[in-house]
Amino acid sequence: MHLNGNSLGPPRADLLGELERVVDRQWAPRQVQGWFADGWLDLPRTVGDAIGTLLGARPGQVVVAGETTSTTLFNAVVAACRLREERPLLLIEAGAFPTDLYIAQSVARLLGRRLLVESAAGFDSALQAHGSRIAAAIVAPVDFRTGELREIGPTTARCHAAGAVTVWDLSHAAGVLPTDLDDNRVDLAVGCGYKYLGGGPGAPAYLYVAERLQPTVDLPLSGWHGHAAPFAMSPDFVPADGIDRARTGTPPLLSLVALHHALGPLTRAGIEALSRRNRSLSDFFLTCAGERSPRLLGQLASPGEAARRGGHLALNVPDAAKVEHELADRGVLLDSRPPDLIRIAFAPLYVSHVQVWHAARELAHVLERSR
Ligand SMILES: Cc1ncc(COP(=O)(O)O)c(C=O)c1O
Repeated sequence: MHLNGNSLGPPRADLLGELERVVDRQWAPRQVQGWFADGWLDLPRTVGDAIGTLLGARPGQVVVAGETTSTTLFNAVVAACRLREERPLLLIEAGAFPTDLYIAQSVARLLGRRLLVESAAGFDSALQAHGSRIAAAIVAPVDFRTGELREIGPTTARCHAAGAVTVWDLSHAAGVLPTDLDDNRVDLAVGCGYKYLGGGPGAPAYLYVAERLQPTVDLPLSGWHGHAAPFAMSPDFVPADGIDRARTGTPPLLSLVALHHALGPLTRAGIEALSRRNRSLSDFFLTCAGERSPRLLGQLASPGEAARRGGHLALNVPDAAKVEHELADRGVLLDSRPPDLIRIAFAPLYVSHVQVWHAARELAHVLERSR
């Protein structure tokens, strides 16, 4: 059973059929014409709009250009800084995912800004102390280690009160928690296509640019697919209208097809139902773990209060990597993060309560044996 938070889940049963359909009925007979005749050129926006329904974004604000989350974040952070040329600081949480820290460090070097790296608590004080000098804040709604939530609306409002642009990394929230990007007045957001969105290994990332920013946003990765007239082959870059300007180059078509296919059941279920089911699974895990081994609950690294948690749970466990491997041998796939953390993620559509019960039992067993 798959409870692993970094690359979630099995393919849908009919994924191969969908890929075969595109290869046999589109690529093989039409070849290059597929870009125009089969909607391939529009797929980055089509898939973006489907993701948008899960993110609380009206159509035309999300695109899947075909990049990694790291490159997409670079694109977004530089663009955010360019919206605040006169401000010398960038802000990020110390507990951010490593790639976010690395990209923020690189952008700060590239653009001659100073990076403030703050604890979760220090983040708000830094906004208060230096707000008028902060160009952009890079922030995540779910701590990738502990699963602790940061509310998108209030944080965005505090950044805006200081005049800073927000760049949200939604990787651990999209497809499992409501993010309400439009209602929360988020500026820019990115996230992985292969976590709860289920796009499969290496699925491309998505980028959200709020409609109100689209006419002025200046993205550094200005590839030909983001040009107003890509096939005019003009030497100068003229950005396309709307979210199309956030496209880069020729998109990885088959990966987009796989991601699109994975989104079907998620968008049909809707984010509220997905979130309810995720909550029910994680609460059930805690009940089962507590019954089996009350000590396990004392090892919870996530907030005890469900309302303060995202879609996964984390436990402090000595020799976490060893525990991960032992559980894998027993058919339970979860993941470990140094130093001593295991993460258990509950993808709403294919994890069942029976599997959760089984996973809690196996985990208690492995931990008791290693004591
Ligand atoms: C929160 C977060 N941001 C960014 C990334 C990096 O994504 P990519 O490897 O697609 O660049 C990850 C990868 O796990 C992640 O968890």
